[in-house]
Amino acid sequence: MTDSDEAAGDPQAAIDAQGERRREDLDDRIFEHSAGDHQEGIPFVGAGPGNPRLLTVAGKELLEEADLVVHAGSLVNSEVLEAYCAHAELVNSVGKDLEELIPLMRDAYEDGQNVVRLHSGDPAIYGAALEQMDALEHEGIPTYLVPGVTSAFAASATLRTQLTLNELANHVAFTRPQGKTLTPEEDHVSEFVGMGDVTTCLYLGTHAVRETMDRLLADGHDPDLPVAVVYHASWPDEDVILGTIETIADRVEEAGYRASALVIVGEAVTGSGYERSYLYGDWANRGPDSDG
Ligand SMILES: C[S@@+](CC[C@H](N)C(=O)[O-])C[C@H]1O[C@@H](n2cnc3c(N)ncnc32)[C@H](O)[C@@H]1O
Repeated sequence: MTDSDEAAGDPQAAIDAQGERRREDLDDRIFEHSAGDHQEGIPFVGAGPGNPRLLTVAGKELLEEADLVVHAGSLVNSEVLEAYCAHAELVNSVGKDLEELIPLMRDAYEDGQNVVRLHSGDPAIYGAALEQMDALEHEGIPTYLVPGVTSAFAASATLRTQLTLNELANHVAFTRPQGKTLTPEEDHVSEFVGMGDVTTCLYLGTHAVRETMDRLLADGHDPDLPVAVVYHASWPDEDVILGTIETIADRVEEAGYRASALVIVGEAVTGSGYERSYLYGDWANRGPDSDG
């Protein structure tokens, strides 16, 4: 049985083998290339949060040259595909398993086509990119990553705030609530919120806002702690819902959102109450007579 047969038959075996190889042999490409370089192979591109203008230049160039774009369905704004993929065959990856996706991308690449795998936001956050890359690499197809703007950054920009703010929010957690993927023990939302100076960005949690907020209340967190829910950040139908741990669930349910929103918990949501940073130290000392 060749490696390809093994991978085609059992993608998990291919992924495991590739992971083992990565652990044992340093991948020279790590030192030969930087993010943003044009590289050999199939790029795994972050589409950004939705607005086509928030795609990187590298991502745009790759899409414009692509013959086949395998994209993440409704999570990728169709405007991105319309704007940059006029000449490519488009395949929606939703509902397809690795057994289908890997041969599709491999065969197109081996036929000499430019293949792009398009993920929403940045592939590094809840993207499941690495398993596809490992399976492809196992079959001899090189791959690489092109970063994108993750939805938390788009939501933060919409809210006209920062996720870190001096003295108020010293850390950021990218997390998701318990559900099919995470057990209750693996859900750390309450711990992050309890740290006090963390901005907690919840992905994949729109459908579970009430359960999540109920858990926070049951754990004794301040009911008045600010929460923002940004639906479709940077899309034409973007919507912002502001509230608190106590009020946000009613407002989200009233709006009817069950998916595609980013939930941000923490004082940073308001953009107020922070201390000035040391970065621009002299500004406050400038009197009306100063030169600056
Ligand atoms: C499978 S995860 C992918 C995240 C993506 N890789 C990223 O970096 O944004 C999908 C979740 O990301 C969030 N998301 C993705 N795009 C969004 C957007 N434009 N606005 C708000 N949330 C978004 C939602 O929480 C959604 O449930």
